[in-house]
Amino acid sequence: MKILVTGGAGFIGFHTAKALLDRGDEVVVVDNFNEYYDVSLKRARANLLSCEIIEADVSDYDDMKKVFEDYSFDKICHLAAQAGVRYSLEKPFVYEKSNVKGTLVLLELCRKFKVKDFVFASSSSVYGDNKKQPFSEEDRVDTPISLYAATKKSNEEMAYVYHHLFGLNCTGLRFFTAYGPYGRSDMALFIFTKAILEGKEIKVFNNGNMARDFTYISDTISGILSALDSAFKYEIFNIARGEKVKLLDFIKEIEKNLGMKAKKKFLPLQPGDVPESLADISKAREMIGYNPKVSIKEGVKKFVDWYKEFYSI
Ligand SMILES: NC(=O)c1ccc[n+]([C@@H]2O[C@H](COP(=O)([O-])OP(=O)(O)OC[C@H]3O[C@@H](n4cnc5c(N)ncnc54)[C@H](O)[C@@H]3O)[C@@H](O)[C@H]2O)c1
Repeated sequence: MKILVTGGAGFIGFHTAKALLDRGDEVVVVDNFNEYYDVSLKRARANLLSCEIIEADVSDYDDMKKVFEDYSFDKICHLAAQAGVRYSLEKPFVYEKSNVKGTLVLLELCRKFKVKDFVFASSSSVYGDNKKQPFSEEDRVDTPISLYAATKKSNEEMAYVYHHLFGLNCTGLRFFTAYGPYGRSDMALFIFTKAILEGKEIKVFNNGNMARDFTYISDTISGILSALDSAFKYEIFNIARGEKVKLLDFIKEIEKNLGMKAKKKFLPLQPGDVPESLADISKAREMIGYNPKVSIKEGVKKFVDWYKEFYSI
Protein backbone atom coordinates (compact mmCIF):
# COMPACT_ATOMS: atom_id res chain seq x y z
CA MET A 1 0.00 0.00 0.00
CA LYS A 2 1.09 3.58 -0.58
CA ILE A 3 0.41 5.50 2.60
CA LEU A 4 0.83 9.17 3.45
CA VAL A 5 1.89 9.59 7.09
CA THR A 6 1.47 13.20 8.19
CA GLY A 7 3.51 14.22 11.21
CA GLY A 8 5.97 11.44 10.37
CA ALA A 9 8.86 13.17 12.12
CA GLY A 10 6.77 13.26 15.29
CA PHE A 11 6.81 10.63 18.01
CA ILE A 12 3.83 8.50 16.95
CA GLY A 13 4.22 9.32 13.23
CA PHE A 14 7.84 8.19 13.20
CA HIS A 15 7.06 4.85 14.82
CA THR A 16 4.08 4.39 12.49
CA ALA A 17 6.10 5.14 9.36
CA LYS A 18 8.88 2.82 10.54
CA ALA A 19 6.49 -0.06 11.25
CA LEU A 20 4.82 0.36 7.85
CA LEU A 21 8.19 0.46 6.05
CA ASP A 22 9.41 -2.58 8.01
CA ARG A 23 6.45 -4.61 6.78
CA GLY A 24 6.96 -3.50 3.19
CA ASP A 25 4.45 -0.71 2.63
CA GLU A 26 5.37 2.33 0.59
CA VAL A 27 5.37 5.43 2.80
CA VAL A 28 5.58 9.16 2.17
CA VAL A 29 6.04 11.42 5.19
CA VAL A 30 4.94 15.04 5.48
CA ASP A 31 6.05 17.11 8.46
CA ASN A 32 6.70 20.82 8.96
CA PHE A 33 9.44 20.25 11.58
CA ASN A 34 8.09 23.07 13.73
CA GLU A 35 9.93 24.22 16.84
CA TYR A 36 7.31 23.36 19.46
CA TYR A 37 9.89 20.98 20.91
CA ASP A 38 13.48 20.01 20.09
CA VAL A 39 13.75 19.92 16.30
CA SER A 40 16.95 17.84 16.44
CA LEU A 41 14.87 14.99 17.92
CA LYS A 42 12.48 15.25 14.94
CA ARG A 43 15.46 15.26 12.54
CA ALA A 44 16.97 12.24 14.30
CA ARG A 45 13.72 10.32 13.86
CA ALA A 46 13.37 11.36 10.21
CA ASN A 47 16.95 10.25 9.51
CA LEU A 48 15.99 6.73 10.53
CA LEU A 49 13.22 6.51 7.93
CA SER A 50 14.09 5.17 4.50
CA CYS A 51 11.30 6.94 2.64
CA GLU A 52 10.44 10.23 0.99
CA ILE A 53 10.20 12.99 3.60
CA ILE A 54 8.50 16.18 2.47
CA GLU A 55 8.84 19.31 4.54
CA ALA A 56 5.43 20.95 4.22
CA ASP A 57 2.58 22.30 6.31
CA VAL A 58 -0.61 20.27 6.18
CA SER A 59 -2.66 23.47 6.39
CA ASP A 60 -1.18 24.71 3.10
CA TYR A 61 -3.70 23.51 0.50
CA ASP A 62 -1.52 24.16 -2.55
CA ASP A 63 1.56 22.44 -1.13
CA MET A 64 -0.49 19.45 -0.03
CA LYS A 65 -2.32 19.30 -3.37
CA LYS A 66 1.07 18.98 -5.03
CA VAL A 67 1.91 16.05 -2.73
CA PHE A 68 -1.36 14.31 -3.65
CA GLU A 69 -0.67 14.95 -7.36
CA ASP A 70 2.84 13.52 -7.15
CA TYR A 71 1.83 10.31 -5.36
CA SER A 72 -1.28 8.28 -5.68
CA PHE A 73 -2.09 7.29 -2.10
CA ASP A 74 -4.16 4.30 -1.08
CA LYS A 75 -4.55 5.49 2.49
CA ILE A 76 -3.85 8.53 4.65
CA CYS A 77 -2.62 8.22 8.21
CA HIS A 78 -3.04 11.73 9.56
CA LEU A 79 -1.01 12.22 12.73
CA ALA A 80 0.32 15.77 12.24
CA ALA A 81 -1.08 18.17 14.79
CA GLN A 82 -0.13 20.77 17.28
CA ALA A 83 -0.14 18.58 20.37
CA GLY A 84 -0.05 19.60 24.02
CA VAL A 85 -2.87 20.75 26.27
CA ARG A 86 -1.06 23.49 28.17
CA TYR A 87 0.42 25.20 25.09
CA SER A 88 -3.10 25.55 23.65
CA LEU A 89 -3.84 28.13 26.34
CA GLU A 90 -0.93 30.24 25.06
CA LYS A 91 -1.11 29.76 21.29
CA PRO A 92 -4.71 28.94 20.32
CA PHE A 93 -4.38 29.97 16.67
CA VAL A 94 -1.58 27.46 16.05
CA TYR A 95 -4.11 24.76 17.00
CA GLU A 96 -6.75 26.21 14.72
CA LYS A 97 -4.28 26.27 11.81
CA SER A 98 -2.56 22.90 12.20
CA ASN A 99 -5.39 20.86 13.68
CA VAL A 100 -8.59 22.27 12.24
CA LYS A 101 -7.49 23.69 8.88
CA GLY A 102 -4.79 21.02 8.43
CA THR A 103 -7.32 18.22 8.86
CA LEU A 104 -9.84 19.92 6.58
CA VAL A 105 -7.20 20.30 3.85
CA LEU A 106 -6.47 16.57 4.01
CA LEU A 107 -10.16 15.61 3.99
CA GLU A 108 -10.75 17.84 0.95
CA LEU A 109 -7.78 16.33 -0.86
CA CYS A 110 -9.00 12.81 -0.10
CA ARG A 111 -12.29 13.80 -1.71
CA LYS A 112 -10.63 15.44 -4.72
CA PHE A 113 -8.13 12.64 -5.34
CA LYS A 114 -10.58 9.84 -4.49
CA VAL A 115 -8.51 8.39 -1.67
CA LYS A 116 -10.72 5.84 0.09
CA ASP A 117 -9.31 5.52 3.61
CA PHE A 118 -8.48 8.12 6.23
CA VAL A 119 -7.14 7.15 9.66
CA PHE A 120 -6.53 10.08 11.99
CA ALA A 121 -5.34 10.94 15.48
CA SER A 122 -7.90 12.07 17.99
CA SER A 123 -7.15 12.16 21.69
CA SER A 124 -8.24 11.01 25.14
CA SER A 125 -8.54 14.73 25.92
CA VAL A 126 -11.93 14.79 24.16
CA TYR A 127 -13.33 13.16 27.33
CA GLY A 128 -12.61 16.39 29.23
CA ASP A 129 -13.12 15.84 32.93
CA ASN A 130 -15.89 13.29 32.49
CA LYS A 131 -16.41 11.60 35.84
CA LYS A 132 -17.55 8.19 34.59
CA GLN A 133 -14.62 5.83 34.19
CA PRO A 134 -13.39 4.03 32.20
CA PHE A 135 -13.96 6.39 29.27
CA SER A 136 -15.96 4.70 26.54
CA GLU A 137 -16.45 5.67 22.90
CA GLU A 138 -20.17 5.72 23.74
CA ASP A 139 -19.77 8.53 26.30
CA ARG A 140 -20.70 12.11 25.53
CA VAL A 141 -17.70 14.20 24.62
CA ASP A 142 -19.13 17.65 24.15
CA THR A 143 -17.52 19.37 27.11
CA PRO A 144 -13.80 19.65 26.24
CA ILE A 145 -11.74 21.65 28.75
CA SER A 146 -8.90 22.82 26.50
CA LEU A 147 -8.74 24.24 23.00
CA TYR A 148 -6.50 21.31 22.04
CA ALA A 149 -9.32 18.92 23.01
CA ALA A 150 -11.87 21.03 21.12
CA THR A 151 -9.78 20.84 17.93
CA LYS A 152 -9.49 17.05 18.27
CA LYS A 153 -13.26 16.74 18.75
CA SER A 154 -13.77 18.91 15.68
CA ASN A 155 -11.53 16.51 13.70
CA GLU A 156 -13.88 13.65 14.57
CA GLU A 157 -16.87 15.70 13.43
CA MET A 158 -15.28 16.92 10.19
CA ALA A 159 -14.28 13.34 9.36
CA TYR A 160 -17.88 12.24 9.98
CA VAL A 161 -19.12 14.83 7.48
CA TYR A 162 -16.70 13.58 4.81
CA HIS A 163 -17.77 10.02 5.50
CA HIS A 164 -21.46 10.98 5.28
CA LEU A 165 -21.29 13.23 2.24
CA PHE A 166 -18.51 11.68 0.19
CA GLY A 167 -18.19 8.09 1.41
CA LEU A 168 -14.67 8.54 2.78
CA ASN A 169 -13.80 5.69 5.19
CA CYS A 170 -12.69 7.39 8.40
CA THR A 171 -11.28 5.91 11.59
CA GLY A 172 -10.41 8.21 14.50
CA LEU A 173 -8.06 6.95 17.19
CA ARG A 174 -8.25 8.45 20.66
CA PHE A 175 -4.71 7.96 21.92
CA PHE A 176 -4.09 7.85 25.65
CA THR A 177 -0.65 9.17 26.79
CA ALA A 178 1.71 7.33 24.46
CA TYR A 179 5.29 6.96 25.72
CA GLY A 180 8.48 5.17 24.77
CA PRO A 181 11.80 5.58 22.92
CA TYR A 182 12.05 8.70 20.73
CA GLY A 183 9.22 10.15 22.84
CA ARG A 184 8.33 13.81 22.94
CA SER A 185 10.60 16.09 24.92
CA ASP A 186 7.60 18.15 26.11
CA MET A 187 5.98 15.17 27.87
CA ALA A 188 6.31 14.14 31.51
CA LEU A 189 8.43 11.00 31.13
CA PHE A 190 11.07 12.83 29.10
CA ILE A 191 11.02 15.95 31.29
CA PHE A 192 11.21 13.94 34.53
CA THR A 193 14.01 11.67 33.31
CA LYS A 194 16.10 14.64 32.15
CA ALA A 195 15.52 16.65 35.35
CA ILE A 196 16.27 13.73 37.69
CA LEU A 197 19.52 12.99 35.84
CA GLU A 198 20.50 16.68 36.08
CA GLY A 199 19.61 16.82 39.80
CA LYS A 200 16.88 19.39 39.08
CA GLU A 201 13.42 19.73 40.58
CA ILE A 202 10.42 18.14 38.85
CA LYS A 203 7.02 19.82 38.88
CA VAL A 204 4.30 17.47 40.13
CA PHE A 205 0.90 18.96 39.36
CA ASN A 206 -2.35 18.55 41.30
CA ASN A 207 -0.10 17.76 44.29
CA GLY A 208 0.55 14.35 42.76
CA ASN A 209 -3.13 13.41 42.55
CA MET A 210 -2.94 12.61 38.86
CA ALA A 211 -3.30 9.31 37.05
CA ARG A 212 -2.95 8.34 33.43
CA ASP A 213 -3.69 5.41 31.20
CA PHE A 214 -0.14 5.23 29.81
CA THR A 215 0.24 3.39 26.51
CA TYR A 216 3.59 2.01 25.38
CA ILE A 217 4.34 3.10 21.83
CA SER A 218 4.45 -0.40 20.28
CA ASP A 219 0.90 -0.95 21.55
CA THR A 220 -0.22 2.41 20.13
CA ILE A 221 1.33 1.45 16.78
CA SER A 222 -0.35 -1.95 16.71
CA GLY A 223 -3.69 -0.12 17.05
CA ILE A 224 -2.84 2.26 14.20
CA LEU A 225 -1.75 -0.55 11.86
CA SER A 226 -4.89 -2.59 12.59
CA ALA A 227 -7.05 0.47 11.91
CA LEU A 228 -5.21 1.09 8.62
CA ASP A 229 -5.74 -2.52 7.61
CA SER A 230 -9.46 -2.48 8.45
CA ALA A 231 -10.99 0.44 6.50
CA PHE A 232 -14.19 0.94 8.51
CA LYS A 233 -16.79 3.33 7.17
CA TYR A 234 -16.68 5.52 10.28
CA GLU A 235 -15.41 4.40 13.68
CA ILE A 236 -13.75 5.88 16.74
CA PHE A 237 -11.50 3.74 18.96
CA ASN A 238 -9.78 4.28 22.29
CA ILE A 239 -6.13 3.24 21.97
CA ALA A 240 -4.81 2.79 25.51
CA ARG A 241 -3.49 0.14 27.87
CA GLY A 242 -6.72 0.06 29.86
CA GLU A 243 -4.98 0.54 33.19
CA LYS A 244 -4.71 3.62 35.37
CA VAL A 245 -1.28 4.42 36.82
CA LYS A 246 -0.83 7.02 39.55
CA LEU A 247 1.63 9.77 38.65
CA LEU A 248 3.61 9.17 41.86
CA ASP A 249 3.96 5.46 41.03
CA PHE A 250 5.07 6.40 37.55
CA ILE A 251 7.76 8.66 39.04
CA LYS A 252 8.88 5.81 41.36
CA GLU A 253 9.37 3.61 38.28
CA ILE A 254 11.57 6.27 36.65
CA GLU A 255 13.58 6.68 39.88
CA LYS A 256 14.07 2.93 40.13
CA ASN A 257 15.41 2.70 36.59
CA LEU A 258 17.71 5.69 37.01
CA GLY A 259 18.85 4.64 40.50
CA MET A 260 18.24 8.25 41.57
CA LYS A 261 15.64 10.11 43.63
CA ALA A 262 13.48 12.90 42.18
CA LYS A 263 13.30 16.29 43.88
CA LYS A 264 9.56 16.89 43.70
CA LYS A 265 7.89 20.27 43.72
CA PHE A 266 4.17 19.86 44.35
CA LEU A 267 1.93 22.32 42.50
CA PRO A 268 -1.81 22.80 41.87
CA LEU A 269 -3.66 21.37 38.86
CA GLN A 270 -2.89 23.30 35.68
CA PRO A 271 -5.80 24.87 33.81
CA GLY A 272 -6.94 22.63 30.94
CA ASP A 273 -5.36 19.52 32.48
CA VAL A 274 -7.42 16.43 33.20
CA PRO A 275 -6.63 14.81 36.59
CA GLU A 276 -7.25 11.23 35.48
CA SER A 277 -7.64 9.16 32.33
CA LEU A 278 -8.67 5.55 31.95
CA ALA A 279 -9.95 3.91 28.78
CA ASP A 280 -12.40 1.16 28.08
CA ILE A 281 -10.60 -0.66 25.26
CA SER A 282 -13.15 -3.40 24.67
CA LYS A 283 -14.33 -1.93 21.35
CA ALA A 284 -10.79 -1.92 19.89
CA ARG A 285 -10.22 -5.43 21.26
CA GLU A 286 -13.34 -6.72 19.54
CA MET A 287 -13.24 -4.86 16.25
CA ILE A 288 -9.53 -4.57 15.43
CA GLY A 289 -8.05 -7.31 17.60
CA TYR A 290 -6.18 -4.70 19.64
CA ASN A 291 -4.28 -6.30 22.50
CA PRO A 292 -1.84 -4.07 24.43
CA LYS A 293 1.10 -6.03 25.78
CA VAL A 294 3.68 -3.78 27.43
CA SER A 295 3.40 -3.07 31.17
CA ILE A 296 4.44 0.22 32.71
CA LYS A 297 7.47 -1.50 34.32
CA GLU A 298 8.76 -2.80 30.98
CA GLY A 299 7.85 0.38 29.14
CA VAL A 300 9.56 2.84 31.49
CA LYS A 301 12.67 0.65 31.48
CA LYS A 302 12.74 0.65 27.67
CA PHE A 303 12.39 4.43 27.64
CA VAL A 304 15.14 5.02 30.22
CA ASP A 305 17.49 2.60 28.40
CA TRP A 306 16.84 4.43 25.13
CA TYR A 307 17.30 7.87 26.76
CA LYS A 308 20.68 6.95 28.24
CA GLU A 309 21.92 5.50 24.98
CA PHE A 310 20.60 8.32 22.79
CA TYR A 311 22.08 11.06 24.97
CA SER A 312 25.24 9.03 25.77
CA ILE A 313 24.69 9.00 29.53
N1 LIG B 1 1.54 11.32 22.26
C1 LIG B 1 0.35 11.20 22.85
O1 LIG B 1 0.26 10.72 23.97
C2 LIG B 1 -0.90 11.61 22.14
C3 LIG B 1 -2.12 11.50 22.84
C4 LIG B 1 -3.30 11.85 22.20
C5 LIG B 1 -3.28 12.29 20.89
N2 LIG B 1 -2.09 12.42 20.24
C6 LIG B 1 -2.13 12.89 18.83
O2 LIG B 1 -1.36 11.98 18.06
C7 LIG B 1 -0.71 12.68 17.00
C8 LIG B 1 0.77 12.47 17.08
O3 LIG B 1 1.24 12.95 18.33
P1 LIG B 1 2.76 12.90 18.77
O4 LIG B 1 2.80 12.61 20.21
O5 LIG B 1 3.51 12.06 17.84
O6 LIG B 1 3.15 14.43 18.59
P2 LIG B 1 4.41 15.09 17.87
O7 LIG B 1 4.33 16.55 18.15
O8 LIG B 1 5.64 14.36 18.25
O9 LIG B 1 4.09 14.81 16.34
C9 LIG B 1 3.35 15.67 15.52
C10 LIG B 1 4.20 15.99 14.32
O10 LIG B 1 3.41 16.80 13.45
C11 LIG B 1 4.19 17.85 12.96
N3 LIG B 1 3.29 18.96 12.66
C12 LIG B 1 2.63 19.76 13.53
N4 LIG B 1 1.89 20.66 12.87
C13 LIG B 1 2.09 20.42 11.55
C14 LIG B 1 1.60 21.02 10.36
N5 LIG B 1 0.78 22.07 10.41
N6 LIG B 1 2.00 20.52 9.18
C15 LIG B 1 2.86 19.46 9.11
N7 LIG B 1 3.36 18.85 10.19
C16 LIG B 1 2.97 19.33 11.41
C17 LIG B 1 5.19 18.17 14.06
O11 LIG B 1 6.37 18.79 13.56
C18 LIG B 1 5.45 16.81 14.67
O12 LIG B 1 6.60 16.22 14.12
C19 LIG B 1 -1.14 14.14 17.15
O13 LIG B 1 -2.26 14.35 16.32
C20 LIG B 1 -1.54 14.25 18.60
O14 LIG B 1 -2.45 15.28 18.80
C21 LIG B 1 -0.91 12.09 20.83
